[in-house]
Amino acid sequence: MSLLFSPLHIRSVTFRNRLWVSPMCMYSAVDGLVQEWHHTHLSQFASGGAGLIIAEATAVVPEGRISLRDAGLWNDDQRDAWTPIVTAIHDRGATAGIQLAHAGRKASTWWPWAQARGSVPSADGGWTTTAPSAIAFEGFAVPAALDLEGIDRVVEAFAASARRAVDAGFDVLEIHGAHGYLLHQFLSPLSNLRDDEYGGSLENRARLLLRVVDAVRDIAGDGVPLFVRISATDHADGGFTAEEATVVGDWATAHGADLIDVSSGGLVAHQRIDVFPGYQVPLAETVRRGGRIPVSAVGLITAAAQAEQVLADGAADAIFAGREWLRDPHFALRAAHELGAAISWPPQYERARWR
Ligand SMILES: Cc1cc2nc3c(=O)[nH]c(=O)nc-3n(C[C@H](O)[C@H](O)[C@H](O)COP(=O)(O)O)c2cc1C
Repeated sequence: MSLLFSPLHIRSVTFRNRLWVSPMCMYSAVDGLVQEWHHTHLSQFASGGAGLIIAEATAVVPEGRISLRDAGLWNDDQRDAWTPIVTAIHDRGATAGIQLAHAGRKASTWWPWAQARGSVPSADGGWTTTAPSAIAFEGFAVPAALDLEGIDRVVEAFAASARRAVDAGFDVLEIHGAHGYLLHQFLSPLSNLRDDEYGGSLENRARLLLRVVDAVRDIAGDGVPLFVRISATDHADGGFTAEEATVVGDWATAHGADLIDVSSGGLVAHQRIDVFPGYQVPLAETVRRGGRIPVSAVGLITAAAQAEQVLADGAADAIFAGREWLRDPHFALRAAHELGAAISWPPQYERARWR
């Protein structure tokens, strides 16, 4: 009996398996509107057997975009552009999620394959970014520190985007609190030097994240699962630690989060990460603490047996993969084949099931 292909129940959702597609920015939206690319890209993973597909970091306000090409949910046209994609995912038997995001001081940058690097000048459509404190990410423009009204607007924007996501039909909402983006910038003492109620103690640094969890849970109601992605270490001296992450995970769960999606890094350019297969699994296991908090593991989990072992070890409740799905959009079908798991295949692909 495969753990990877056993269903998982959270609130009103039954995930058909525990091999999930991690959110991945495609830098292919136009004015925040998702395109035909996103439709094909995301629906292929559903055909490929994914249990859950979380759509890319989607900006809750225009100034929260990593690049000009990010997807958004700050208006209703953007919501309507997502709807057929959600339908396509559902038609193929998978669960649809979306990651709500604000890039903070890492906003207004060039997309990866642009000719330029770093912050986009205003002449090219860039903007002044915002952050907890006026401290730049190395090589990027200096952000403006958010005032209290600005913080309130961030919370409202997450809630408004969550409303649109639910209305577009998404089954799962994920708050992006990782990878050095705005909410992570508040969590880490390396980027948050505030001396008000949003800075200093862990309780203060976590205040914005928990306000966002509260606001999004309010919109999600009782039925919709809410995930929070966190970077469980900054991989840098003086940064956010795994010990702090376990406390924040506890708090987020008490505020209505259902699963902590444990990633790491992204806050500072001078981070030092030791990367190896499953390198973030120990962090997930730390945050999970013997199953007290449901967590997912992510990061160089690329094989069926490896994913199965993470679950068997009790390190996580579910597995996200990113790049392996880009190499093989039918990763879950292949994994089921390798593990001999009896799953339901798309009838069109049934002949590939056994031999
Ligand atoms: C093309 C690409 C885009 C990504 N965009 C996001 C994103 O929007 N949000 C996020 O939380 N992580 C993002 N990530 C990180 C992945 O979700 C994942 O955590 C990371 O790639 C490690 O998993 P992997 O080794 O299975 O690829 C991205 C990764 C890739 C390769």
